[in-house]
Amino acid sequence: MQLTDQFGREIRYLRLSVTDRCNLRCFYCMPEEGIHFLPKDQLLSYEEMIRLCGIFTSMGVDKIRITGGEPFVRKDLIGFIGSLADNKQIKKLSLTTNGILTRPYLSQLKACRIQQINLSLDSLDAQNFHKITRRDEFDNVMSTFHQMLDEGFAIKINAVVMPGINDHEIVPLAELAMNYPVSVRFIEEMPFNGTGSVHAGIKWDHVRILAKLKSRFPDISPVPAAPNSTSQNYTFYKAMGDVGIIAAFSRTFCGTCDRIRITSTGEMRTCLYGHNVLDLKALLRQGERDEVIRDSIVRVVQKRARDGFEAEKLRGTNNPIGESMSVIGG
Ligand code: GTP
Ligand code: 5AD
Ligand code: SF4
Repeated sequence: MQLTDQFGREIRYLRLSVTDRCNLRCFYCMPEEGIHFLPKDQLLSYEEMIRLCGIFTSMGVDKIRITGGEPFVRKDLIGFIGSLADNKQIKKLSLTTNGILTRPYLSQLKACRIQQINLSLDSLDAQNFHKITRRDEFDNVMSTFHQMLDEGFAIKINAVVMPGINDHEIVPLAELAMNYPVSVRFIEEMPFNGTGSVHAGIKWDHVRILAKLKSRFPDISPVPAAPNSTSQNYTFYKAMGDVGIIAAFSRTFCGTCDRIRITSTGEMRTCLYGHNVLDLKALLRQGERDEVIRDSIVRVVQKRARDGFEAEKLRGTNNPIGESMSVIGG
C-alpha cells in the first residue's frame, strides 16, 4: 500500500527523532539551561523504533532521516542504524547531526548505507559559534566537516539565519559552496525554541536572504528543486556546490509535503507546526498488532492539515508553539 493523505500527497519521508537530548544549546532551539529531558523509559527503545519503521515502510515510506536532539548522544546509535539499514524497503537513509560526536563513526555510517549527512553549522567563526551554541566545539565540528568531505559523503550544511547574530556570515557561509562540493542551506528561524515565548515574526525571510546572496553573487540562478524538497537551491559562477534557502517559517513548500515525524517520545506528527496526533508508543506498549497500528496511522493521515498554517491553527490557542526542536527532531 501507499500511505496517502486526503489531498493525494503520498507520504514517503519519515523523520525519526531518536533522543530529545543534545550536547549543544543552540539558542534558537533551547534555553541555556536545556529543557526538561525525559527519562529513558519515556523514549522509544531501538526495538520499538525498528518495528515502527517496518510498519511505515510497509505503508510506502522509503526515506528515513534520523534526527535528535543530537542523534549520537543516544548510546549505540550506530548499532541501531545498522539494524535499520537491514530494511531494504528504505531506499534513502540519512542523518542530521551537529557533528560533535560524529567523526569516529563516519566509515561505519558508510557501511550502513548512509550517503548523505546534513550538518548543522551556523557560523564559521569560533567565537560566534560559541555564542550561538553556548559550547566550545567549533574546531571539532569543522574537522568533522572536512573528514565527511574526505570520505565522500554528500553534505548539506544547515544554517539558521538570525538577525544581529550570524546575518553578517551569510556570504562567508555561501562561499563554502564556492570552495567545496556542498549544499549550504539558509533556514528561516522558527519558533521551536523551547522557551514558549511569543514569536514576533522574522527579520530574515527567504526573500531577504536571496537578495543578500544576489548582492554578492549577481549571476545566482535557481536549479530545479528535487520533488518534495524544503529548499530552493541556487548555483552561481564557479561554485563547486550550491546554496539553498529553506522557507521554514514562511512555509512555501507545504503543498508538496510528503513528510511525517515520530518525536523522541514516540508520538506521531503529520506536520512540524501541528500537535502530536497519535501516541505510537502507547499503541506499541499496549501490545497492539501491526494492523491496528497501521489503521490508526491511516486515520490520522486522512486528517492531515493542508499546510503548516492550518496545522498551527488546529493546535488551538491553549497550545501555542514553544516546544524545542530537539523533541520534535526538526
Ligand atoms: P533533505 O531534504 O532530506 O536533505 O532533508 P531536510 O532538509 O528535510 O532535513 P534537515 O533535517 O536538514 O532540515 C533542514 C531544515 O528544514 C530544518 O530546520 C528543519 O526543521 C526544516 N524542515 C524540515 N522539514 C520541514 C517541514 O516539514 N516544515 C518546515 N517548516 N520545516 C522543515
Ligand atoms: N528554527 C529553524 N531551524 C531550526 N533548527 C533547530 N531549531 C530551529 C529553529 N528554531 C534546525 C537546526 C538543524 C535542523 C534539524 O533544525 O539547524 O539543522
Ligand atoms: Fe542541539 Fe540541534 Fe537543538 Fe542545536 S539545534 S541544540 S544541535 S538539537
